[in-house]
Amino acid sequence: MRLLPASLFGRMMLILFSGLVLAQILSASINFAERDRLLLRSSSMQSAQRIADIVKLLDSLGPAERQRIVTVLSVPPQVVKLEAAPQAPSAAALDNPHAAMFSAALHAALGDARPLRVSVLQAAPGARPSGPESGRQGMMGEHAGMAAAMSSMPDMQAMRPFMSSGLMFLTQVQLRDGSWVAFDTQLPQGPANTPWRLLLTLLVLLLTVLVLSYAAVRWMTRPLAVLASAADALGKDINRPPLPETGPTEVRRAAHAFNIMQSSLVRFIQDRTRIFAAMSHDLKTPITRMRLRTELLEDADLRQRFDKDLREMELMVTHTLDFMRGFEQPQAARPIDITALLESLQADNQEMHREVLIEGQALAPYVGDPERLKRCVSNLIDNAILYGRQARIIVEDGPAALTLRIRDRGPGIAPDELDKVFEPFYRLEASRSRETGGTGLGLGIARNIARAAGGDVSLRNHPEGGLEATLHLPRKSSPE
Ligand SMILES: Nc1ncnc2c1ncn2[C@@H]1O[C@H](COP(=O)(O)OP(=O)(O)OP(=O)(O)O)[C@@H](O)[C@H]1O
Ligand SMILES: [Mg+2]
Repeated sequence: MRLLPASLFGRMMLILFSGLVLAQILSASINFAERDRLLLRSSSMQSAQRIADIVKLLDSLGPAERQRIVTVLSVPPQVVKLEAAPQAPSAAALDNPHAAMFSAALHAALGDARPLRVSVLQAAPGARPSGPESGRQGMMGEHAGMAAAMSSMPDMQAMRPFMSSGLMFLTQVQLRDGSWVAFDTQLPQGPANTPWRLLLTLLVLLLTVLVLSYAAVRWMTRPLAVLASAADALGKDINRPPLPETGPTEVRRAAHAFNIMQSSLVRFIQDRTRIFAAMSHDLKTPITRMRLRTELLEDADLRQRFDKDLREMELMVTHTLDFMRGFEQPQAARPIDITALLESLQADNQEMHREVLIEGQALAPYVGDPERLKRCVSNLIDNAILYGRQARIIVEDGPAALTLRIRDRGPGIAPDELDKVFEPFYRLEASRSRETGGTGLGLGIARNIARAAGGDVSLRNHPEGGLEATLHLPRKSSPE
C-alpha cells in the first residue's frame, strides 16, 4: 500500500506507465519470436537445399574424387566429412522439433526417401555441446570456440536476450553406395544490429505516449485540485465567490453541487445569526430596566449582587452580538496605522496598571476595519494579562502578511485544549473558578475577525514558557 502514490495524478500516471511498458514488452517479444521463427525456417530451407546439392554431386562421383570435393566444400560454417557408418546421436537430440523440421526440408530438397539423420547439437549461442555430443569436439571445436568467444564479449552478452538462438545441426545422409556423409550446419545466430533500432523506436513511442498521457492526466485532474482548494477556502471564508461551472460534465456537476451547498450554508448561517443577534439585542432593554429597578432595593448587599449579575449578563449579550457580527460580511476597509493602534491599546491598559510591551513595528499601514482589528488584538491582550500577567506584542511585517505575536508569562494551555478554547463559551476550569468574569467568547471573536480578513489566530505554548497567540493577517492591495 505504501508504494502507491498518494495523489490521483500519481496513480493514473503509474497505471498508464506500467500498462504501456507491459504492452511494449509483450509486443516486442512477440515480434522477436516471430522474426526468429521465420528466419530459422528460411535459412533451414537454404541449408537443406545446399546439403541436397552436395549429396547429389557426391552420388555421381567415385570415392577418390569425393574426398577431394569434400575437402574443397568443407568451409566453415559448413563442415563436411565422409563416414563409413552414421554416429548414433542421443535420443533427445533426435526428438528436437527443429531437427524434425530440418529433416523434412532435406527430404523435400533431395526428392527421395533415403535414410538420413538430423540431430541438434547446440540450441543456444555459447552453449557448448555436452554428453554424447562432446565426442564431436574435434569437428565442432571451431564453432564452439567462436560461440564462446562471442559470449565473452561484454556487448554481445548484453544483446543475448535479443539474439535469436543459433542452431547447430549434425546432418548425416546416406549416399547411393551405402556410405555416409556428415554435415555440420549452423543456422543463424540472429542479427544483432536490428534490435537496437527496434528498441529505439519503442523508446521514442513510449516517451511520446508518456508525455501525452502526462498532459492528459494533468488536464483531467486539474479541476479536482481546483475543487479541493475551493473547499479549503470555504472553511476560511463562507462568502467566497462561487466556483466557475466549466470543464467536463462530472466536474461541472460537482462544481454546481458545491456552489449550491455553499449558498445554503450561507443562508443557514445568516438565518441563525439574525435570530441570535435579534435575541441578544432585545435582551439589552429588559436588562437595563432591571438595573434601574435594583436601585429600588433597600438591602445594599443584595443590590450589589444583583448589580454584578446583571453586569455579567450585559457583557454576555454584548459579546454574543460581537461574536455573531463576525459571521457577517466584512465592512469597508481603510488603511490602519498599526503602531498607533497598538500604542493606544497600550495606553488604555496602562491606565488600569496593566503591562503591555511592544516590539518591532509595521512597515506600512494595514488595510482593514480598524474597529474590528482593535477588538481582535485587545481580546488577545486581555487574555495575556488576565491569565498570564503581562502582554508582550511582537510585530513582524512583510510585503505578504502582517503578523502580531502576543506572548504572556502565564501557565499556558494544555495541548489538547489549545483548539477547544476557541469554541464559544468554552472556558478552562482554572479560569472558571477564578473571578475573571469572562464569557468565553474572546478568542472566538478574535478568530472570526481574523478569518474574515483572510487570516487566522492560532495558539501555542512557547518553549520559553507562557502562551503565544499569533494573529496572522495577509496583506491585500489597498482599495484606492
Ligand atoms: N493567555 C492565556 N493563558 C492561559 N489560558 C488562556 C489564555 N487565553 C485564554 N485562555 C483560556 O481560554 C479560555 C477562553 O478564552 P476566551 O478569551 O475565549 O474567553 P474568556 O477570556 O474566558 O472570556 P472573554 O474573553 O469572552 O471575556 C479562557 O477562559 C482561559 O481559560
Ligand atoms: Mg478572553
